[in-house]
Amino acid sequence: MEDILVVSARCNRRDAITGVLLADGNSFAQVLEGPALAVVACYERILVDPRHQDARLRFLASIDARSFPRWSMCGLSLSQLDDSLLQPPDIAFDLYAADAGALLQHLSGISLRHARRLDTLHERLLASAC
Ligand SMILES: Cc1cc2nc3c(=O)[nH]c(=O)nc-3n(C[C@H](O)[C@H](O)[C@H](O)COP(=O)(O)O)c2cc1C
Repeated sequence: MEDILVVSARCNRRDAITGVLLADGNSFAQVLEGPALAVVACYERILVDPRHQDARLRFLASIDARSFPRWSMCGLSLSQLDDSLLQPPDIAFDLYAADAGALLQHLSGISLRHARRLDTLHERLLASAC
């Protein structure tokens, strides 16, 4: 996760992409937002990355405003978090089975709940990417 986030934060800052990445031990779920061509190029790089398999595009849309403007990429590996910080919806949610709307809502909710942790992580990611 750390390796993925460091390169993602660096490349996405270059490409004006923002978003968030969650992992639950079995699956990754990610939002990429930014200029269409840059997002597609990024997704094509991710598709051929051997660190995951069976990638699925869940939702693609034009947006008026970004949902995750603060983070070029940032993320949480839920299994690594202190359980006391997690609320039940963070733990029980199935990233793989959820429909796109529920997934987006979940990613937004968990990012809000852990925003300070993510801000700190994002600063560290950008510092290690320099
Ligand atoms: C789950 C997952 C998410 C990733 N997210 C991004 C991302 O948001 N931006 C990015 O540039 N690379 C991301 N990567 C890494 C890319 O697959 C790739 O390693 C990286 O962009 C460097 O590409 P290059 O080696 O072709 O230069 C992700 C990889 C994985 C496995």
